[in-house]
Amino acid sequence: MTTALITGASGGIGEAFARRLAEDGHDLVLVARSEEKLRELRDELQAEHNITAHYIAVDLTGFEADKQLFDETEKNGIEVDWLINNAGFGSMGDFATLDLERELGMIDLNISVLVALTHRYIGKMRERKSGTIINVSSTAGFQPIPFMATYAATKAFVTLFSEAIAEENRPYGIQVFALCPGSTKTDFHAAAGIDASMGFKGQETADDVVETAMRAVGSKRAKIISGWTNWVVATGVNFLPNSLITRVMGKGLRGKFQKDQ
Ligand SMILES: NC(=O)c1ccc[n+]([C@@H]2O[C@H](COP(=O)([O-])OP(=O)(O)OC[C@H]3O[C@@H](n4cnc5c(N)ncnc54)[C@H](OP(=O)(O)O)[C@@H]3O)[C@@H](O)[C@H]2O)c1
Repeated sequence: MTTALITGASGGIGEAFARRLAEDGHDLVLVARSEEKLRELRDELQAEHNITAHYIAVDLTGFEADKQLFDETEKNGIEVDWLINNAGFGSMGDFATLDLERELGMIDLNISVLVALTHRYIGKMRERKSGTIINVSSTAGFQPIPFMATYAATKAFVTLFSEAIAEENRPYGIQVFALCPGSTKTDFHAAAGIDASMGFKGQETADDVVETAMRAVGSKRAKIISGWTNWVVATGVNFLPNSLITRVMGKGLRGKFQKDQ
């Protein structure tokens, strides 16, 4: 029996991973802040599938939270075979007027916590010469995005970091990849302050994204884009200069966020 630790398992893509991995017979460690949701999910998945699930309710941006999480799994003798670094959030608006604490908190959760958990668990995976690490990134990280500047940059980091350590860890039997969804139907947009008027046509579901990830397990690819349309757009963007992309995107959003201009 293998165990998957999923951050951000209380909803959205993380919850969809939990449901899918439970169905496939993996034991689980569910991590997020919302204790009630985690407890209910644990109870449901244990009742429906022949698995053991634990939950750890923690704010991952808290002081040494990644260490506490690692120590907790070690203390309980839990070997983490799959690490799914999924917890993350975004923001949208004119960077100069966004709340600085929140922007820094985003960098902390989307980057620092992901790096710290990867570092803590990958050593154990190397000893066992096996493991799977899925870092949930985003197609937002494929180009600079005015009015979503910090979020897009955090995801650029996640993708490049994941691709690099995928190569470093290939000889140790560990698969690492960046999973890059496009816009997906979850609570992400509400949490990021992105209103529905932006239009979310062609969104994938969280289950679609997880299905893409599961198909990629066992492959040699280190960057996985979810959804055919997202793949076409992301590939097309490679051929355009960032100066053009930022100009076009900035023009489209300036009227919404910089009404004085
Ligand atoms: N939805 C999209 O359009 C989209 C597209 C591309 C990439 N992504 C990425 O997909 C990942 C999952 O997002 P989602 O779409 O599933 O959004 P979501 O529904 O808002 O889920 C975010 C998860 O992260 C957890 N979380 C947030 N802050 C946390 C903290 N400080 N400590 C611990 N857990 C925390 C939340 O749980 P609690 O609130 O209970 O802590 C929740 O379980 C993110 O990394 C996001 O950037 C999303």
